[in-house]
Amino acid sequence: MPRVVVFDETGAPDVLHVVEEPRPEPGLGEVRIRIEAAGVNRLDQLMRTGAYPRPFRLPHARIGCEGTGTVDAVGAGVEGLANGDPVVITAVPAMDLDGTYAEYTVVPATAVVPRPAGLDAVSAAALWVAYGTAYGALVEKAGMRPGDRVLVTAASSAVGLAAIQVANQIGAVPIAVTRTTAKKDALLAAGASAVVATDQDDLHEAVGALTGGAGVDIILDSVMGPGLAQLATSARFGGTLVTVGWLDPRPATMPTTAPLTIYRYMGFEHFLDPVVVRRIAAFLAAGVRTGALRPTVDAVFTLDEVVEAHRRLDQADGFGKIVITI
Ligand SMILES: NC(=O)c1ccc[n+]([C@@H]2O[C@H](COP(=O)([O-])OP(=O)(O)OC[C@H]3O[C@@H](n4cnc5c(N)ncnc54)[C@H](OP(=O)(O)O)[C@@H]3O)[C@@H](O)[C@H]2O)c1
Repeated sequence: MPRVVVFDETGAPDVLHVVEEPRPEPGLGEVRIRIEAAGVNRLDQLMRTGAYPRPFRLPHARIGCEGTGTVDAVGAGVEGLANGDPVVITAVPAMDLDGTYAEYTVVPATAVVPRPAGLDAVSAAALWVAYGTAYGALVEKAGMRPGDRVLVTAASSAVGLAAIQVANQIGAVPIAVTRTTAKKDALLAAGASAVVATDQDDLHEAVGALTGGAGVDIILDSVMGPGLAQLATSARFGGTLVTVGWLDPRPATMPTTAPLTIYRYMGFEHFLDPVVVRRIAAFLAAGVRTGALRPTVDAVFTLDEVVEAHRRLDQADGFGKIVITI
C-alpha cells in the first residue's frame, strides 16, 4: 500500500512516522497526484509542534504543504489536466488530511500548475512556496520595480534566496542580510549585490554606506522580533517594509521613526486566488526558462528519513530548501 507520513501527537521530530494507507480517490473537481518530492516548510514545523494557529485532526495528522509529481487520476468535472502531466502543487487546503509527505495526495484541480520545463523533481519541490512568497511579497505587495534597492533578511533561507533571484529577475538590487559571515560568499554567488553579516557589520551603518545614506526602497523581513524597529531605520523615507516570517519568536517592536508602508504578508493570500496564481506561475516559468530562477536545495532526505529532515529544519541554520524525495 502507498506510504504516508503521519503524527499522532505534537512534539519533537520523532513524532513523525511512516504508515501505509489506501490511495485516496479524487472527488468532484479534484486530482490525485503521484508525489515525487515534497518541500519542507516552517509551516510544517508549526504543525508538528502544535503551534499551528488552526485546529487540525489528531491522532493521524498528515503533514506537508508543498510538492511536485504527476497527475495520477482526474475527478469528475476536471478539464485541462490528464494522467501523467507533471505539476507543482500550489496549495493544500487541509494539510492534516492531504499533506504532501506521501506517495499520493488529492488536491483541487485549481491547486496545481504545470511543472516548469527543465526543473527536476527536487528543484520543483523547492519552487512554489519560497518563490511564490518572494514574488507575492515583493512584486504584488511592495510593487518592486527595476532599480529598487531591496534589503532581504534571513537571506540564506529558502524565501531569502528566492527573493534575491526574484529581485534580480525584475532588475532590482538585492542586499542580503545574514547573521553569519561564513555565508557571505555563498550569498554573493547566489546573486546578492552586497551582503551585510550582522555578526561583524552594523546593519544601519552598512546599509547607509551601500545606499549613499538614502536607505533601501523595500525591506523583506523574515525575522521580526525586537530588532524590527531598528531594521526599519534602514528603509528610505517613505519606503516599504514587508514582513513574511517571524524567525525570532519574541514580540516585535513597531517602527515609529519615519514614514513607512508596512505589510504583513502570507503567501496563502495569493495561493488561493487563481488570477494571482496564474501570474505567479507565469513569472516563475519565465524565470526558470531564462535561468534567472534556480531553487537552492539545502539537503535532500527520503521519506524514511523524515525525522532527520525535521531535525535539520529545527536547526534553522541551513542554506535553501529542505526536500523529501518520495
Ligand atoms: N509568509 C509566507 O507565506 C511564508 C511562506 C514561507 C516561509 N515563510 C517564512 O519565511 C521564513 C523563512 O522560511 P524558510 O523556510 O525559507 O527558511 P528557514 O529554514 O526558516 O530559514 C533559515 C535561515 O533563517 C535565518 N534565521 C534563522 N533563525 C533566525 C533568527 N532567529 N534570526 C535571524 N535569522 C534567522 C538563518 O540564516 P542566517 O544564518 O543567514 O542568518 C537560517 O539559515 C520563516 O519565518 C517562514 O515562516 C513565510
